[in-house]
Amino acid sequence: MENLFLSALKGDDHKGAPMWFMRQAGRYMNSYREVRKEYTMEQICHSPELSSRIAYDAARYLQTDAAIIFSDIMIPLENLGYNVKYVENTGPIPEKTGSTTDQFVSYSGMAVRNFKANYPDIPVIGFVGGPLTLASYIIASGPDGELKKTKEALIRDEDKTIELLGELTDVVIKDVKAQISSGADAIQIFDSWLGFLDHNYAELAVKKTTRKIVDAISKSKVKSIYFSTGTSGMVDALIRSGADFLSLDWRCSLKEVSETFGSIGLQGNLDPSVLALSPEKAVEKGIQIAREMRDVNKFIFNLGHGILPETKQENVKMLVRKIRDVV
Ligand code: CP3
Repeated sequence: MENLFLSALKGDDHKGAPMWFMRQAGRYMNSYREVRKEYTMEQICHSPELSSRIAYDAARYLQTDAAIIFSDIMIPLENLGYNVKYVENTGPIPEKTGSTTDQFVSYSGMAVRNFKANYPDIPVIGFVGGPLTLASYIIASGPDGELKKTKEALIRDEDKTIELLGELTDVVIKDVKAQISSGADAIQIFDSWLGFLDHNYAELAVKKTTRKIVDAISKSKVKSIYFSTGTSGMVDALIRSGADFLSLDWRCSLKEVSETFGSIGLQGNLDPSVLALSPEKAVEKGIQIAREMRDVNKFIFNLGHGILPETKQENVKMLVRKIRDVV
């Protein structure tokens, strides 16, 4: 039987909802915490073997329809001379230490290649960061909360900020190409913080960054998924990225978006807090989403953002099983 995730990407008829989760390999999982006792986040991201094995273990444990390469959106920025440190419960801190090198290195590309060689039975999702989201960590030298500093940069010096976005877009496109030529089955663009911008700035960011990345992806047969949060009021701008799928958060009804915007593929959108706090309510709401989207071929069940570290791993596994049983 054809894999559900691949069927949904193509928009083919299928029965049941394809499922995977953002951060499906992460600190909520016992086996991941064991690996992290031995290796740092930085070491894992620089090891194609560990990146692909951790990705596979999570997908196999949860029985999801796809794996996502384990790495981080900031790693490709090393090609621009940034050294990235991960601070527990804070996030990545990029530091400009070196200069741009001629030889582009894609650790995600190597991890995808390793995954395809060792685990050919399950589709693998490659990913990159949205340049706006990447820029926010550079501008603020770390997480930028509600994008205060990033917005200040855009408002005070738009040209220079657009120039930075252009530089980041070029790096992201190189990384995407490496992951596609290594065999990625789909590419997700993680633009987590886009929703903090006003509608016009968001539109500008999509035009200057995402649109170009999507164009590069669509030259291959690989499908693109554009993820952001807080953006259900700007779906029209997201659609103009040209992405095949939009991953939206819990601030909208996916069914209503689907009815309003027609043929765009949709992914989401259970609130990760519900899954962390009440497995029963997560099952109820998850089934509701999957049922409402049953007739939409281009639908992928996911959360609206990553699995929270305090989530019990058994509850995530149960959610997958219960949705499979009834939808
Ligand atoms: O989804 C997956 O399972 C694949 C792996 C993945 C990670 N980060 C692993 C990770 C992916 C796709 C990302 C993307 C990412 N990284 C985004 C976009 C998605 C999102 O969550 O909004 C962003 C904004 C980042 C930047 C980043 N890296 C943050 C905010 C953090 C977490 C800070 C914290 O400690 O809570 C990281 C570190 C990180 N990336 C961890 C993981 C599993 C935690 C690392 C650890 O301590 O073991």
